[in-house]
Amino acid sequence: TAPYAPLVRRIESEGSIDGQMLVIDHFLNHRIEPGFIFELAHELARRLSFFQPNVILTAEASGIAPALIVAQALSVPMVYAKKYSTDVEAPSICRSIPSPTKGVETRLAISTRYIRPGQRVVIVDDFLANGRTAAALIEMAREAGADVRGAGFVVEKRFKQGREHIEALHVPVSTLAQVERLESGRVVMTQARDE
Ligand code: G4P
Ligand code: NA
Ligand code: NA
Repeated sequence: TAPYAPLVRRIESEGSIDGQMLVIDHFLNHRIEPGFIFELAHELARRLSFFQPNVILTAEASGIAPALIVAQALSVPMVYAKKYSTDVEAPSICRSIPSPTKGVETRLAISTRYIRPGQRVVIVDDFLANGRTAAALIEMAREAGADVRGAGFVVEKRFKQGREHIEALHVPVSTLAQVERLESGRVVMTQARDE
């Protein structure tokens, strides 16, 4: 969980703040810079390779880009839980989670064809806030009989309880950048970056 300096630097210099949200959607989760996402996802893959996953699991939508590249780097498939899931054929596993940004419940669904008993699963997502998305993914994978080995996130918000929540489920957490707090107009990162 050492800070990944190129990402920390970009968050400090380019990140903006909208309430409790860190906005870096010009390179991570609206506009995507393939070269930069490739580099940071390879760093995340390097850290997650220890868990020897044979599948990477994420959630629609903004987890898909980093998860795809982590999966490619580790030569395993990637599965994403669907949010618009009328098209997920039974048998499937579902969870509903509150969406803080949209004010509604979001339903996540995965097909039991793609997460199988005994599989070694690693969760990847863009943000770890309170961790309800990741916790739902862990529960769903466990319900499918898989072994959840670890979880990796591009950005962790340390002032939320996500890490504590996920570690309480006995899943180790690795993150590339840690936000200590969001002040008015300023993003404060947890550790001084390595230069
Ligand atoms: P929660 O338990 O607090 O609800 O948090 P969780 O960690 O599950 O994150 C909920 C959603 O909010 C996720 O997206 C996550 O990426 C997003 N999110 C949380 N904090 C930030 C932030 O500071 N900046 C940005 N840009 N996103 C943040 P999602 O609702 O699952 O949707 P999607 O964007 O992947 O479609
Ligand atoms: Na997300
Ligand atoms: Na998001």
